[in-house]
Amino acid sequence: MAETIGLVILAAGKGTRMKTETPKALARTAGRTLLDYVVDATLDFALDSGLSAEVGLVVGHRKELVEAWLSTHPSRELLRTAWQREQRGTADALRACFADLPHFWDYDYTLVACADTPLIQASEFRTLFAALRADSSLVGVCATFDARDPKGYGRILRGAPGFHIVEEKDATSDERGILEVNSGFYILRTRHVREVLGSIGNNNKSGEFYLTDLFQDHYRVGPVKFPSAEPFLGINTLEQLAEVSGLLRARKLRDLMLSGVEFLSPTTVHVDHAVSVGPGSVIYPNVTLLGRTTIGERVVIESGAFIRDSEVRADSEILANSYLEGALVHEAATIGPMARLRTGADIGAESKIGNFVEVKKSKLSRGVKVSHLSYVGDAEIGENTNIGCGFITCNYDGVNKHKTLIGSHTFIGSDCQMVAPVTIGDDAFVAAGSTITKDVPSGGFGIARATQVTKEGAARRFLKKKKP
Ligand code: UD1
Ligand code: CA
Repeated sequence: MAETIGLVILAAGKGTRMKTETPKALARTAGRTLLDYVVDATLDFALDSGLSAEVGLVVGHRKELVEAWLSTHPSRELLRTAWQREQRGTADALRACFADLPHFWDYDYTLVACADTPLIQASEFRTLFAALRADSSLVGVCATFDARDPKGYGRILRGAPGFHIVEEKDATSDERGILEVNSGFYILRTRHVREVLGSIGNNNKSGEFYLTDLFQDHYRVGPVKFPSAEPFLGINTLEQLAEVSGLLRARKLRDLMLSGVEFLSPTTVHVDHAVSVGPGSVIYPNVTLLGRTTIGERVVIESGAFIRDSEVRADSEILANSYLEGALVHEAATIGPMARLRTGADIGAESKIGNFVEVKKSKLSRGVKVSHLSYVGDAEIGENTNIGCGFITCNYDGVNKHKTLIGSHTFIGSDCQMVAPVTIGDDAFVAAGSTITKDVPSGGFGIARATQVTKEGAARRFLKKKKP
């Protein structure tokens, strides 16, 4: 039978120093919450290691918000919450977990992680777990590192056979000089937790129940020192959030570059965590890719493009200063410069959407051209149809939205308005300057503009009349 592990994430703290309303665990970076990173890292580790796992989130401050977040999480069937009513310290938080989720006592191992450390990855937990399993007499391990500035961290005092941790507040000035610190990440055999958690007291300077008391010199516990502090960097302030966001962004761009995506100026680009970009793509300076955006292979994205929750397929080009939200761009299409694709814009392969064109909730088939200054809303346009400059779908009558249907291989001249609902057939032609209010059948020619009157030599007379 697979070994089992309870993944306990301590997230009850208020995060007072963030000075924001949301609980710290729900602060966002690169399009997801801090908690998302930690939950993914713990689950990735456990599932990769063949452990049967469940996550116990210890919540407190504004727990309903954390519960709402959880209810939409893709791994929600593996996530449980426990409620720590009052924040009386990290040992009290773990007790709250076992009180609300008593079946966690049955798991072979208990992992403890903090919720505010989004740089942590499965590899750190693998290293920690390997150290625990390498020695069957060990009952717990703690991730440590040498801090350049150890202020605020618990210091590691190595003893025999175990070690113990002294919190900053309780440390003597000699102890404060110790650089090896506690990251706050542990893996323990659950039987050790069962034996000692209940007896942890709060006889210390803060009057808090310290989880670090699980480690004592006379227990078979070990510090596992990591070469870098970076994976364990926690967030307490918005300044630290920005700093860690920078590191996460650099990590994301590094991964993309290694997979064959070229960035002309990586430090100026923002790419959310969940965004994917195919190899051979080239991203110019000052590009923003957000949310669930997917970029295919060999796509070019020029400067100033802002793309959220959109899919751009292979060989397409998004030219400078275009804005895409909830859009789908098929293969080898060209968008922009300065185009706006709104929700439900579905742009066919090899189509061209030019400057100052806005498309909303419209399906354009292959090879459609809308090259200049147009609004296309609630429309369907067939293959290879050409829409001239200054085209407008008049889709809204002040109460309801109506559809404009245009067939394939049709030509719409410049400066036409389609007063929807209206249908233009295939192979049709609509003359420039027409305000179309009636359907034009396939093969038909539609013209709807005032007839021109020309008067020979009348220009001078006309101007004279105007002069005072
Ligand atoms: C803790 C460690 C310290 C370590 C540091 C690393 C203790 C006593 N000390 O200190 O040795 O160097 O982390 O960051 O554990 N939390 C709760 N309920 C509580 C208190 C805290 O859920 O009652 C949660 C917080 O939301 C946070 C985590 O536990 O995610 C750590 O709490 P925090 O107050 O940051 O602990 P530190 O004092 O920094
Ligand atoms: Ca902390």
